[in-house]
Amino acid sequence: MPHAHIVGTGSSMPKRILSNEDLENMVDTSDEWITRRSGIKERRISSNLEQESTCDLSSRASSRALEMAGVSPEDLDMIVVGTVTADRQFPSTGCMIQMTLNAKNAVAFDVSAGCSGFLYALTVVKNAIQCGTCRNALVVGVDRLSSVVNWQDRGTCVLLADGAGAVAVSANSKKGGVLSTHLRSDGRLWELLYSEEGNTFTPEILQDIDQKSSYLKMAGNRLFKRAIAYMAEISKDALNENGLTVGDIGLVVPHQANIRIINALAHTLSVPEEKVYVNIHKYGNTSSATIPIALDEANREGRLNKGDNVLMVTFGSGLTWGSSIVEWTA
Ligand code: ACO
Repeated sequence: MPHAHIVGTGSSMPKRILSNEDLENMVDTSDEWITRRSGIKERRISSNLEQESTCDLSSRASSRALEMAGVSPEDLDMIVVGTVTADRQFPSTGCMIQMTLNAKNAVAFDVSAGCSGFLYALTVVKNAIQCGTCRNALVVGVDRLSSVVNWQDRGTCVLLADGAGAVAVSANSKKGGVLSTHLRSDGRLWELLYSEEGNTFTPEILQDIDQKSSYLKMAGNRLFKRAIAYMAEISKDALNENGLTVGDIGLVVPHQANIRIINALAHTLSVPEEKVYVNIHKYGNTSSATIPIALDEANREGRLNKGDNVLMVTFGSGLTWGSSIVEWTA
C-alpha cells in the first residue's frame, strides 16, 4: 500500500495587520482583555484590492508548497480544500485554485468542516493515495472569516481572521508520512458556532459593516470547554492507534483558537510547552488555515526534522474535530 508523505508546505497571509489597539477603536474591548483571554495581539485581514480573495491566498500558499516539493501543477491528481468561506457558493475554491495554477490533470473540490477542514481534506487525500487512485495532491486550509464575522460583536471579531496554508502530499512506498487521521463530528451541537447565511463573498468588510447581512454566531464559553475535552480525547486516540506516547511526539501543531485552550490541551496531555507550536499572537484564529500555516512556519523555521512525529489536532463548527499523526519525511 502506498504511503501519503507531506513533501512541501506553504502559506500566504494578507498584508493588512489589525492590532488589538485598532480593535479598541472599533468595539468596546481592550488589548489587555484580548491578550489575557485569547493570547492574540494582532491578526491579518484580507482585501480584495490587494488580490487577497480566498482563491488568491490559497493559490499563493499552494504554489509555495509545490515549489518546496518540486512537484509541478500538471502532476497533481487532486486538490482538496478545507474552507467555509469560498469566494462564491460555487464553483469550489478547489476549482479556482486548479485554474490559477493550471493544474489541468487534477480533480478539485472543497470540504466543509469548519475549522477542522484541513484535517478532513488531508484524510480524503491520504485515503485516495492509499487506495492507489492518487499520486500527487494538494491539501489546502483557507478561510477569510473577516467576511462572515460581525464587526460589532466583540465576543467574536477580536478572535477571527484570514489566511491560507497548503501542503503537497505524494505517494511513496516508503513507510512514514501520514500515519493516521481521526475525525469526529456531532451535528447536534451546530448552534454553538454557525453562519446565518450561506453566501460569503463580501468585499472590504471593514468598510461595509452596514451592508452585511450574514453573521457568524458563537457560544464561546460552551465551545471552550468542549474544545479542550474533545481535542485531548482525539489526540489520545491518535497516540493509542499508533502505539505512541506523548514522549514520541516531536511537535504538537494544534488549531489556534485560544492560547488558553492550547495550554489546557498541553496540560491535559502532559506535553511540555516547547513541544507545542503557537502563532496565535500573530494571526488569531484563521479557521481551516491555522494548522497548515503553523506547519509551514514550523517547517521553514527548521522545527521539523526527518523522523519527527507531528501531532495535529483541531476542532470547529459542526461541531467537528480531528487529529492526525505525521512522521515527517520531507
Ligand atoms: N472585550 C472585552 N470584554 C469582552 C469581550 C471583548 N472582546 N468579549 C467578551 N467580553 C466580556 C463578556 O461580555 C463577559 O462580560 P460579563 O462577565 O460582564 O458578562 C466577559 O467578557 C467574559 O466573557 P466570557 O465569554 O465568559 O469570556 P471567556 O473567558 O469565555 O472568553 C472567549 C471568551 C475568548 C470567546 C472564549 O470563550 C473562547 O475562546 N472560546 C472558544 C471560542 C472558539 O474557540 N471558537 C472557535 C472555535 S471553531 C473555530 O475555530 C472557528
